[in-house]
Amino acid sequence: MGPMALLKIARMGHPVLARKAATVENPADPAVQRLVDDMIETLEDLGAAGLAAPQVHAPWRVLVYRLPEDGRVRVLINPAITPLEGEPVTDLEACLSLPGLAGAVPRAAVADWSGLDRQGMPQAGRAEGYHARVLQHEGDHLNGILYPMRMTDLSRFGFVEEMRKHAAETTEESPA
Ligand code: NI
Repeated sequence: MGPMALLKIARMGHPVLARKAATVENPADPAVQRLVDDMIETLEDLGAAGLAAPQVHAPWRVLVYRLPEDGRVRVLINPAITPLEGEPVTDLEACLSLPGLAGAVPRAAVADWSGLDRQGMPQAGRAEGYHARVLQHEGDHLNGILYPMRMTDLSRFGFVEEMRKHAAETTEESPA
């Protein structure tokens, strides 16, 4: 195997982010293994929570993300993410493909997930809270959906730097 590489991130507006990604037929294919290695290296270099293959211009159903409980990286190939019924939870999200921005996105609090690991072995589980949010966000990337398309209140969309700067004022203005 050759040296790993940092991959260039596609930003919102690039058509690769708007398309439905293709199913991986053979996870053992060296090109798929190489993509997974490079995605993990890119994820770690950027200190990101998750990365979907279309974000690195690779239109395949591959995700890598950091498990919130211990920081280990999970690889999911051809994932199925199923949000469960229930009261949605709204929280801020950011995305490598919309650098500098964040927005409040309603998501299911719990999601079932399944997919193949990098060896092609089936795996499945149930995720809650932030873990469920990351999975829903990354799963959306495989279907051409970016988080602003999930927002219901665009007044809560903006530059992280400004939001941080004015967080105190906003809190004061908001009645308890
Ligand atoms: Ni994203």
